[in-house]
Amino acid sequence: MAVALTILTGPDDAGSRRTLSVAPGTTILKAAQAGGVDITATCGGRGRCTSCRVKFLAGPPPPTIMDEVQLGDDLVREGYRLACQCVLHEPVTVQVAPPLEERSFQILGAGPGVRQLGRVTLDSGIAKQVVKVMLPREEHHQTSDLEQLLEAVGLTTADVGPAVLQGLPQALRDDPAGVTVTTFVSGGVSDGRQRILAVERGDTAGMKFGLAIDVGTTSVVTTLIELESGEQLGSVSSLNPQAVFGGDLMSRIAFAQFHPGNLRKLHTRIVGLLNQHIEEICRQSGVLAKWIYKVVVVGNTCMHHLLRGIGPSYVGLAPYAPVMRHPLVLPARELFLKVAPEARVCLLPLVAGFVGADAVAVALATRIYESAEIRIAVDIGTNGEVLLGSRDRLWACSAPAGPALEGAQIRHGMRGALGAIDRVTVDDDLHVHTIGEADALGICGSGLIDLVAGLLDAGVIDWTGLIQVESRAALPPKLAERVIMRGEERQVIVLRPGEAGARAEIVLSQDDVRQVQLAKGAIASGVVMLQHVAGVPDARVAELMLAGGFGNYVSIASALRIGLIPPLPVERIRYVGNAAALGAQLCLVSETERRRAESVAARIEHVSLAAHPDFERIFVEAMNFPPPV
Ligand code: FES
Repeated sequence: MAVALTILTGPDDAGSRRTLSVAPGTTILKAAQAGGVDITATCGGRGRCTSCRVKFLAGPPPPTIMDEVQLGDDLVREGYRLACQCVLHEPVTVQVAPPLEERSFQILGAGPGVRQLGRVTLDSGIAKQVVKVMLPREEHHQTSDLEQLLEAVGLTTADVGPAVLQGLPQALRDDPAGVTVTTFVSGGVSDGRQRILAVERGDTAGMKFGLAIDVGTTSVVTTLIELESGEQLGSVSSLNPQAVFGGDLMSRIAFAQFHPGNLRKLHTRIVGLLNQHIEEICRQSGVLAKWIYKVVVVGNTCMHHLLRGIGPSYVGLAPYAPVMRHPLVLPARELFLKVAPEARVCLLPLVAGFVGADAVAVALATRIYESAEIRIAVDIGTNGEVLLGSRDRLWACSAPAGPALEGAQIRHGMRGALGAIDRVTVDDDLHVHTIGEADALGICGSGLIDLVAGLLDAGVIDWTGLIQVESRAALPPKLAERVIMRGEERQVIVLRPGEAGARAEIVLSQDDVRQVQLAKGAIASGVVMLQHVAGVPDARVAELMLAGGFGNYVSIASALRIGLIPPLPVERIRYVGNAAALGAQLCLVSETERRRAESVAARIEHVSLAAHPDFERIFVEAMNFPPPV
């Protein structure tokens, strides 16, 4: 017989309340997902994070081992359990842990825009002209509205979508002064064939806008650009709402496979978010959505497929083949994007495996493909990418760091939001800085890397990552007091209640250090593998560019100390901002660049890490910490 699961989603009883009828033996997470209630499941329901925690309002069931490991004694005592581990046998009422306020997340926006790159030809392919159309007057005139329009714009033929045809008669007759016709020439090369994207009454010739969208595994950045000047008018960023169904790509692919309706869920979530972005960016800038005629989207292979509504199952299985790789140009109406219905949505080409259009965009933005010297671009993210090469050859691999560096799967981890510890220094004690100088709530990626780097230098953590509880007597007394053994677990107390405004203790556990090692191992081994395959020693690397949302907050000194990046002189390392978003902007304002994306994608040689015989050795080595310099 079914049991009742009541879920409160608000902070108190005033929030929304849903009661679901659930088959006994189902986990709370599965039941909630099936019932359309969002519970964040960053690790995909594997009991490896704390994102799915719910609070039992009365009589919590006995904790599972994963509850104890992930949540710790205090939260377990307060009635918290992991929704993915808790199996229902009797009616219960739980409260979903309120998610963090999205707006407070530190997501790197699109940056100063394409104009910083200088020599970009502005040829978006979008053109507007105001014409006066002679309407058919006599019954014996064997003509049509469309033919008269084509004659007025000087075309003999053109591709015209249904949305234009539907509005055509009215537009032509509404304003005797004329209409504005918007056309698109793909690739910037006119072969005499144009596409009419819109016919608007009156003169709207000055209104030509486009969107560049970077769909990341964890965050999404949308930028509005004036196509004539390339000027950036606004940018909106938020978390990818698909992360509720799995923080990393593999969890998300598993979710898509689990039920036929799940793929649709992932698809509609991202389209819904993009429409929210469009609404917000239009409201902020005063631009009407119908004046947006071109959209360029970049993302890794999985994000690309999910946006298109294509199942990513086989991308997640060896040999990790994408369903398609070629660039796509679609009408916005097909993706249900609320811009001009016939606006062109351009998806850049993919490379191979998980290396997608975002890597191509990074190559375009950093100009690595035309560099005389060898450079490396590291896009640090949940699913990072590494590019290495010059104008002679280019290699790329995917570096699946997972969400640990974004604070997930870390005992007291959090994203870069208000109250997150983002900087740590270690001397005879620990000192922290929090985002917004607010009371400390947890630790985010950049803080975590600083912390591990500082603890390595202080001798609290050894090169294998082990917290050295046994030799703490050699540490300065204040620091030594923070290095403890709790039960079987080695811990470093980062903050005690009351320190830096922390309400509860914030610790770094041995397992957290291991998670950092796995994440940094994934990125570092990606770099080492590409150097290995290309035969490029550190001395030949002219520059290492750190890109991506997280890559721009991490301290270079700490990243070097933990071995996240190769030991290059600091002057050869620089931040390049959100290069994937910048690459998307380039292709938005320039069809020459969009065409170039195809040749760059074709030139990139994909290195499949898992398939390489040396990878395991390199990865294991990359997990260790380098000796102090
Ligand atoms: S622990 Fe439940 S989703 Fe991660």
